[in-house]
Amino acid sequence: MANKKVALITGAGKGIGREIALALAGEGIDVALATRTDSDLQSLIPEIEKSGQKAIDAQLDVSAYEELERFAQEVYKKFGRIDYLFVNAGIGGEKASVLNGSAEKWKEVIDTNLTGAYYTVKAVLPFLTLNAHAKIILIGSGLGHRGQAGNTAYSVSKAGLWMFTRLLAQELAEHNISVNEIIPGPVKTNIDKNSGIAFSDNLFNSEWIKTPTDVIPLVQFLLAQPETGPTGQSFSLARRDL
Ligand SMILES: NC(=O)c1ccc[n+]([C@@H]2O[C@H](COP(=O)([O-])OP(=O)(O)OC[C@H]3O[C@@H](n4cnc5c(N)ncnc54)[C@H](OP(=O)(O)O)[C@@H]3O)[C@@H](O)[C@H]2O)c1
Repeated sequence: MANKKVALITGAGKGIGREIALALAGEGIDVALATRTDSDLQSLIPEIEKSGQKAIDAQLDVSAYEELERFAQEVYKKFGRIDYLFVNAGIGGEKASVLNGSAEKWKEVIDTNLTGAYYTVKAVLPFLTLNAHAKIILIGSGLGHRGQAGNTAYSVSKAGLWMFTRLLAQELAEHNISVNEIIPGPVKTNIDKNSGIAFSDNLFNSEWIKTPTDVIPLVQFLLAQPETGPTGQSFSLARRDL
């Protein structure tokens, strides 16, 4: 039997990340779960274990590189491999212009969504390169391709994430690691609560308002792609011109 795959997911406590963790465990993949709120992990672990898979977790902040480094090492020590990395942890911005918005909020959004993504990849990459063909999936946003005035920090963080996706794909091609972005489009999660940008503010014409479960088929599609499959691409579930 082939070795069991292992996926590391940031922001696994809620929303899209939690659903990805549950879906992967349902497909026989062991999972490494990182997020900020410990109670989210405590409620998720038993659900993962119910599906017969193993889980390891860490309460951490993706803007703290050392915490990610420590966790990646722990995961490798426990499972002996990391095959899939989901760079998912993210927060929304504030509804304010550059003129009126807060410099602290700008830093928090960039630190989490962009620097946090870099830290996550940097910490996990040494273990991914040990595999024949690993995959990195970053959860981007349509606002990273066509930004929204008044939501500048978030749009800029996700635009950076998209460029990061493409450059990583080039750098990692020689390691047979594919790197792709998913654009979920609007999904009902907690992100609105923290962002001050109401869900409806992000709507464009006839968008598809999803639940986290609706994102899973695209995740499964990407994981099913062969070693010679797509890399450096953006896969969108939006219903608008990005
Ligand atoms: N929902 C949408 O409409 C939508 C659309 C496009 C893209 N996205 C992207 O999808 C990803 C997941 O968002 P979601 O909608 O599922 O939101 P969510 O329900 O708020 O979940 C986000 C998760 O990330 C965690 N997180 C946030 N900051 C973190 C940090 N600094 N360190 C570690 N974990 C952190 C959160 O933990 P705590 O709750 O403990 O802080 C939470 O578990 C984000 O990157 C988001 O930008 C979402």
